[in-house]
Amino acid sequence: MAENTSKGPLSGDLGFIHQFIRASTRPDQVTLLLLHGTGGNEQDLIPLGRELYPRAAIISPRGKVLESGMPRFFRRLAEGVFDIEDLKFRTHELADFVEKASKVYSFSLRYVISIGYSNGANIASSMLFLRPEVTFSAVLFRAMVPFIPEKVPSLTGKNIFIGAGEYDPIVPPEQTKTLFRLFKDAGANVTLNWQKNSGHELGYNEISAAKDWLSDLPKK
Ligand code: MLT
Repeated sequence: MAENTSKGPLSGDLGFIHQFIRASTRPDQVTLLLLHGTGGNEQDLIPLGRELYPRAAIISPRGKVLESGMPRFFRRLAEGVFDIEDLKFRTHELADFVEKASKVYSFSLRYVISIGYSNGANIASSMLFLRPEVTFSAVLFRAMVPFIPEKVPSLTGKNIFIGAGEYDPIVPPEQTKTLFRLFKDAGANVTLNWQKNSGHELGYNEISAAKDWLSDLPKK
């Protein structure tokens, strides 16, 4: 199928190098916000997005922070130790980008689903805490607690899937449980999917579980 993709001229204007792919069917208004892991780019998660929600539009930015040449969405001081000031600044910057992109590409902010992996999942969680209006739902693979919010916003009506590996060397199980609890206490509808014998890498079983979960989301 021919894809209607956009990148290039508008990328600079919106502040992030990115790729946009239009939805393949008009009435389906879902847009996936793809957020890659450390060292990734705007192309990395497109096959995953296609697999998870084939008809959706896609907006896929490249993280602007470089760590030894590897793109990320915010600075860290060490593995798992985040520069919180930068994380908050970058979260607002990313949310502003999504808002601007929704106007330029005419997609509805009400139906944006973040799909984040690792560093991308961490900024997606941060966006749920700081700018919840920008995402309707989120699939978070290998997410950590980005920070403990002073005031957790109401996340009632948001649907969140957390995919965790039991033996993840980067995300301790306690982090996953705390994140689950924070979202739950904020009123979100949260699903926690543990993968046995899995580490930080993503496996087919949980992609399939996330796909089933997405297909069960309330239809507009
Ligand atoms: C992060 O820095 O966001 C986490 O440590 C995950 C990663 O390695 O990107």
